[in-house]
Amino acid sequence: MSAAPREPASGRPPCIALLSRVLDMRYLVPAFQALRPDIEWRTGDALGNPADIVAALCWQPQPGLLQTLPNLRLIQSIGAGVDHIYADPGVPRHVPVCRMSEAGMVAGMTTYVVWAVINRHRYFPDYVRNSALGIWQESPIVPPSEHRVAIAGLGRLGLAAARALSSLGYRVSGWSRSPKPDLPEGIAGYHGPQGLPGLLAEADTLVCLLPLTDETRGFLGAATFSHLPRGAHVINAGRGDHLVAADLLAALDSGQLGYATLDATPEEPLPPGHAFWNRPDIMVTPHIATRTPAAAIARQTLENLAVVQAGGMPQACADAALGY
Ligand code: NDP
Ligand code: OXD
Repeated sequence: MSAAPREPASGRPPCIALLSRVLDMRYLVPAFQALRPDIEWRTGDALGNPADIVAALCWQPQPGLLQTLPNLRLIQSIGAGVDHIYADPGVPRHVPVCRMSEAGMVAGMTTYVVWAVINRHRYFPDYVRNSALGIWQESPIVPPSEHRVAIAGLGRLGLAAARALSSLGYRVSGWSRSPKPDLPEGIAGYHGPQGLPGLLAEADTLVCLLPLTDETRGFLGAATFSHLPRGAHVINAGRGDHLVAADLLAALDSGQLGYATLDATPEEPLPPGHAFWNRPDIMVTPHIATRTPAAAIARQTLENLAVVQAGGMPQACADAALGY
């Protein structure tokens, strides 16, 4: 695959729109300029002639804007998730929606998930507290081989985390929409709604690495929690809307859940005073599990643009019918 897109038929350099209602995406421009100094840039509040724009680089784009771009060839998410794009009912269905899929992002998520599993399994939050108070006190030491980790979402991120945890000796299983006959040895696979109770029944830790779709919204709610072993740990590294906040708090208060690690929360940023703050049984991180570096965003976007301009379909495209 070539890194540089072909010139559009007009001979003009490509014109790319930076579309976000929450983020100033101009931080990405230098990384693109290092590869293609001639790109023309537009932003959501200064689109100029919409007919010029061939690609839209998006993070929570302003609803309704994408459908006003008649010559759009590529809608590119700057993240692995594309839910923030499909949230706009006006997304043009004939334009490919691509996600980021990059080794550094996978490595980042793997380290986050491995840390979160070990952090709770080895009771490090207790040791942090005890250390601050000068208390020498052991918590239970359970070998990884006796700790079961279930990963909901066995895609690029979930599978990499599953492999890493399995290599550390954890008992790992995973859940996907479709069957996975070729999972690495030591990782048990479940799929579909019928596979879910089996997955949950053997999850001392449940990790959510699902995409946000109509089917997965609210996955981390009372029904799921009720199938977990009592005292389980839940990690949400997916999206905030996977989580039902009131159900999480009720499950923690009743002891059905023992701990929650939340990188994605229903409100982001999580507001001061929110019930998730300041609880010994919830660890919140501010959606930092992983990021795609600007250079990788630029490279992948330009590669994808080259492919669509040559009449092809980039590999990392979402399926509009599935929503991921
Ligand atoms: P992929 O698209 O590669 O994988 C998604 C996985 O979820 C697949 O295994 C898929 O099944 C499974 N899945 C989808 N729908 C269902 C369903 N209804 N029931 C069961 N399984 C389902 O995604 P990634 O691994 O790249 O990313 C996952 C998500 O992680 C992103 O969508 C994003 O929301 C989140 N994320 C969070 C970040 C953070 O910093 N917190 C950073 C990056 C991503 P199948 O294999 O059968 O298709
Ligand atoms: C992503 C994210 O989707 O940062 O990449 O959440």
